[in-house]
Amino acid sequence: MFGLGAKSIIGLDIGSSSVKLVEAEKRRSGWVIRSFSSVTLPEDTIVDGEIVNHAAVVEAIKNVYKESNAKSKYVCTSVSGSSVIIKHISLPKTAPSELEDQVYWEAEQYIPFDMSEISLDFEVVQEDAGDGKMDILLVAAKKDFIEKRLAAVRESELTTEILDIDTLALANTFWENYDVNQDSASVLVDVGASLMKINIVNQNTTIFTRDVAIGGKNLTQEIQNKLGISFQEAEVLKIDACTTGQIPEEIAPLVTAISENIALEIRRSLDFYAATPTQQPLNSVYLCGGASRIPNLANMLGEMLGLQIEYLNPFAKVTCSGREFNEEFIAAISSSAVVPLGLAMRGVE
Ligand SMILES: Nc1ncnc2c1ncn2[C@@H]1O[C@H](COP(=O)(O)OP(=O)(O)OP(=O)(O)O)[C@@H](O)[C@H]1O
Ligand SMILES: [Mg+2]
Repeated sequence: MFGLGAKSIIGLDIGSSSVKLVEAEKRRSGWVIRSFSSVTLPEDTIVDGEIVNHAAVVEAIKNVYKESNAKSKYVCTSVSGSSVIIKHISLPKTAPSELEDQVYWEAEQYIPFDMSEISLDFEVVQEDAGDGKMDILLVAAKKDFIEKRLAAVRESELTTEILDIDTLALANTFWENYDVNQDSASVLVDVGASLMKINIVNQNTTIFTRDVAIGGKNLTQEIQNKLGISFQEAEVLKIDACTTGQIPEEIAPLVTAISENIALEIRRSLDFYAATPTQQPLNSVYLCGGASRIPNLANMLGEMLGLQIEYLNPFAKVTCSGREFNEEFIAAISSSAVVPLGLAMRGVE
């Protein structure tokens, strides 16, 4: 959203548990992913979307970049969490030359921070939304919060060309891969390590977003506390249990409880959505993010919501180029590639 130029760029997703990089190019036949790399971050490097261990992030970005063999030094990266505001606002129809001032003026009412402390961007969703109004999607984030991301990228000797929002990158990957019905909306859910990002979209715009502070890290911490082991040991045990489906008896109730909590938060978001004035009926829920793979989450969600639940496939239309993209690798990365791919596809090549 916060565009700083337009060059060949790579997608750099600085998540709270790992930094992920995607290099993609647009060919005549469509988008092709050339590389995907990921480097794990130490525990508590990023808390509520905010970088608290700067050196660890810089090291991870340098390592992931090296591993990727990417050519471009220009990146599109993203922010998420409670310091980011995404909101639809309705404005009286305004000439393009005056729009920026008008949006800025109007935004002051909606933004709970001092305007001098925030970066603001917007997109015209509908030029004619009826009654002489236009529909604008407003995106704002605190400057100091953004600056920490930009500084980490800069110190890694890369240049941020575009600063995006996780939820919007999620939608970008969805639209590139799915043909959607005009009369209904889809629920996109990215369950990360610390934050669950929800974006309800129709065929071309974000209608409703919500970030909830819940994710895979909560389950790891509960296993850690219950078994009296380190975070790292608990993480290994958890991934092993979740991928093999052989869940030790002592942690099974913890797995069920986190799935229930995630499902309840999704349901709560759909209740908020149902209370908004311009609602379209919902078709499916599309899940992604590492923690969306917690066993039984999809089933539980399906039962609770009565909607069809699918895993968002970032490779439904986007193709892969390179030997490492065998079936096993594609299956392993598909839930974590969604956001960095959405970022990479902001570039033009
Ligand atoms: N197969 C699996 N089953 C269960 N959980 C998994 C699995 N694979 C990864 N995870 C969990 O997913 C989380 C990482 O997901 P992801 O990479 O989407 O998060 P992130 O982008 O780093 O975090 P965030 O978006 O919240 O900042 C970790 O908590 C990890 O333990
Ligand atoms: Mg993430």
